[in-house]
Amino acid sequence: MTDFPKGFVWGTATSSHQVEGNNTANDFWLMEHTEPNMFVEPSGDACDQYHLYEQDVLLLKELGFNAYRFSIEWSRIEPEKGEISHAELEHYRRMTTFIRDQGLTPIVTLHHFTVPVWFACEGGFASKDAPAHFANYAGILADVLGDVWGQVCTINEINIPMRFFHDGFLKDQARFAPFLEAATKRSGSDMFSTYFVGDIDAAADGMKQAHQLAVKAIRTRSPSVPVGLCVSMQDEQAIEGGEALRDAAVARCIDAFLDVTKGDDFIGVQTYSRSVYGPEGKLKVPEDAETTQMGYEFYPEALEATIRYAAAYTGLPVMVTESGIGTDDDSRRKAYVETALKGVQNCLADGLDVQGYCYWSMLDNYEWMLGYRPTFGLIAVDRVTQTRTVKPSAQWLGDIAKANAF
Ligand code: BGC
Repeated sequence: MTDFPKGFVWGTATSSHQVEGNNTANDFWLMEHTEPNMFVEPSGDACDQYHLYEQDVLLLKELGFNAYRFSIEWSRIEPEKGEISHAELEHYRRMTTFIRDQGLTPIVTLHHFTVPVWFACEGGFASKDAPAHFANYAGILADVLGDVWGQVCTINEINIPMRFFHDGFLKDQARFAPFLEAATKRSGSDMFSTYFVGDIDAAADGMKQAHQLAVKAIRTRSPSVPVGLCVSMQDEQAIEGGEALRDAAVARCIDAFLDVTKGDDFIGVQTYSRSVYGPEGKLKVPEDAETTQMGYEFYPEALEATIRYAAAYTGLPVMVTESGIGTDDDSRRKAYVETALKGVQNCLADGLDVQGYCYWSMLDNYEWMLGYRPTFGLIAVDRVTQTRTVKPSAQWLGDIAKANAF
């Protein structure tokens, strides 16, 4: 049995749109309800965590976790431009305070993919006013939550649109055109732009500025809270001849975003698998490799490599803000996390400052375009009765958290 450092953070993670339910004022809800659309099903009630957060937090406490990473839904706080909902602010204050009162650290994400429809209608993060809007929202949250939140992640996976774009997934605009056309029509704005669709370069710049302005806005009001950015990373490997393409992808999709973390308190690392580049580009996952429900290669070793990369590049302490697997075989979840945690321990043994590990996800939840099919959760959810069923992996990881040893 090897101990983790005292104070090591053991969390699980979720995001507002994936678990709260009925986030009717954001861009995803709008896109889920156009005809045609790119979602296998709408988010609907999700896991109704908006109402059930107390029982969920108590469950996490009972299992042994000492942190909960969740996100605030901007479209609830500011459903129309400049119109702030004090009742929703109060909701998140109650929830954050409850988490803290139960002895868990509330790790609060300000932006996890969704934005209010009005913001998307102005061009999303590609609009010139976007960074200021986001910083304003961050400041409002800091005014209300500044004495109760424990750690803040400004933007979740700031680099994912660029990664998808670079990999070709978003390059095929023709594939997305009918969906975007339907969403544009429904939104009533020709500028409608979301996290995944629109001017990706301009949006990336906007998000980088938004992060930096938000950090400032938070520091002025809530100076002692650690603030950081969450970056999606894979172990980027190359076979002979693939090095240049790998390096180009890393420079554009990862380094360019890590560059805006100077002066932050931590870097949030989120990892699910690896990428391997050959002379022609990214290689397909080998036929004989074990894959997850997402089609990713089962490769938990990636976590160690990405922690090392992020720590070396930024010089910041690392928080693992997401690591997990979509599988219907819970024993593979344990195997995945076990290897991932061994990687964390190897980093710690080498003196790296790894502050915590948040498993994605607490609950089986809304996996965006794939709906409720992939199951990442430590806890299953009956979406009619909203009954939670704890999986063996949750008990197992909770026991590790309680013992702070593995
Ligand atoms: C995202 C989550 C998502 C998870 C699993 C991460 O990219 O932050 O929203 O559910 O991966 O695909």
